[in-house]
Amino acid sequence: MKTNNINLILLVCIVVCINLGGCLGGSLRKGFYKQTCPLAEQIVKNATWNHVSANPNLPAKLLRMHFHDCFVRGCEASVLLSSSANNTAERDSFPNSSLEGFDVIDDIKEQLEKACPGVVSCADILALATRDSMSFQFKKSLWDVLTGRRDGTVSIANEVLRNLPAPFFNFTQLKQSFANRGLTVQDLVVLSGGHSIGVGHCNLFSNRLYNFTGKGDQDPSLDSTYAALLKTQCQGPRDTTTAVELDPGSFQKFDNHYYTNLKQNKGLFQSDAALLTNKVSSNAVQKLLKANDFFTEFGQSMKRMGAIGVLTGTSGQIRKQCGVVNSN
Ligand code: HEM
Ligand SMILES: *[C@@H]1O[C@H](CO)[C@@H](O)[C@H](O)[C@H]1NC(C)=O
Ligand SMILES: *[C@@H]1O[C@H](CO)[C@@H](O)[C@H](O)[C@H]1NC(C)=O
Ligand SMILES: *[C@@H]1O[C@H](CO)[C@@H](O)[C@H](O)[C@H]1NC(C)=O
Ligand SMILES: *[C@@H]1O[C@H](CO)[C@@H](O)[C@H](O)[C@H]1NC(C)=O
Ligand SMILES: *[C@@H]1O[C@H](CO)[C@@H](O)[C@H](O)[C@H]1NC(C)=O
Repeated sequence: MKTNNINLILLVCIVVCINLGGCLGGSLRKGFYKQTCPLAEQIVKNATWNHVSANPNLPAKLLRMHFHDCFVRGCEASVLLSSSANNTAERDSFPNSSLEGFDVIDDIKEQLEKACPGVVSCADILALATRDSMSFQFKKSLWDVLTGRRDGTVSIANEVLRNLPAPFFNFTQLKQSFANRGLTVQDLVVLSGGHSIGVGHCNLFSNRLYNFTGKGDQDPSLDSTYAALLKTQCQGPRDTTTAVELDPGSFQKFDNHYYTNLKQNKGLFQSDAALLTNKVSSNAVQKLLKANDFFTEFGQSMKRMGAIGVLTGTSGQIRKQCGVVNSN
């Protein structure tokens, strides 16, 4: 009788856990706001679509912002916080150079605060808006976004450089950086496919064109025709203002063309080229040349990236404004 009771309790627990989509109140789930703010995901989508139709570069901006958020303190919107008198926040760190879209997230948040005050986190808004912006722009339904993230209260500029992989990283460093976030080499290769869209600034790869080893030489792993083209686009080795396409020929399309370029030694950054220097990662590159594999894999890796270090349950807070920590 006693064991039966225990078994029953266990069974109930398991059923409850499955229905909640995770035990410990810890994990994200689909439709977290279904009861508390039924229109939340609709509102995010509508607002995002309006913004993207006015700014086709927005998907790339949001995708990169979501990545930066997740790699520094986890996906808890620390990237969105503004600096204050006594604190320089992430967004004012050096690698922020081209982060954009803060105003878009703020606008969506404002609409959500009207509909359901204090319910929808900025971290979830960023995750949802990233996916929605890409689905709209590239006319394709993409990955599911699980929700239930809460917002952090800390954002420190000098944590960015320590946590974000740099464009001059070699394979070992990239692998370590992703492993530190619980991501695999497969995730590294797949998510680098984010460089299928958007642009990068000349100073972040100009060493490869002008002075790779300090002898005025070029990076031998960079296709020489492509290098010559890049030299016509950049205004010399110290150009910090020009930005070029990350996926030449296809930067306005989200697709697996990035890997085609990569195989032809036309990866823009050393960190892109580095994916060919290891057997496991170069095999992964080979597989991603199949379009359907890429979209499936990208969705799965985005889910994993979107779950890094999330705050759930009663951790963190739901910010009232995405740029500032709640005052009480
Ligand atoms: C693997 C390590 C990575 C490195 C070293 C890296 C580095 C960079 C750098 C240096 C830029 C150019 C920034 C600029 O000049 O303005 C850039 C742009 C970009 N990155 Fe990455 N990145 C990495 C991974 C990722 C991941 C995982 C994603 C998303 C899944 C991503 C998405 C993007 C996008 C969309 C852009 C274009 C942004 C724009 O057009 O403004 N990157 N990345
Ligand atoms: C969609 O967005 C537009 C522009 O922000 C707004 O005027 C409209 O009310 C929104 N519709 C819904 C259903 O949220
Ligand atoms: C900055 O100052 C505010 C009060 O003005 C304080 O609440 C907060 O903890 C301080 N932040 C840091 C990082 O010292
Ligand atoms: C990036 O940081 C610099 C300070 O290092 C700041 O002046 C600039 O406004 C920041 N850019 C963004 C997009 O926040
Ligand atoms: C990668 O870079 C690190 C740091 O500069 C260096 O210690 C390591 O030897 C490099 N690895 C390879 C395989 O080049
Ligand atoms: C290349 O780099 C080396 C070492 O950093 C430096 O001494 C040299 O002046 C550079 N050459 C050019 C052309 O910038």
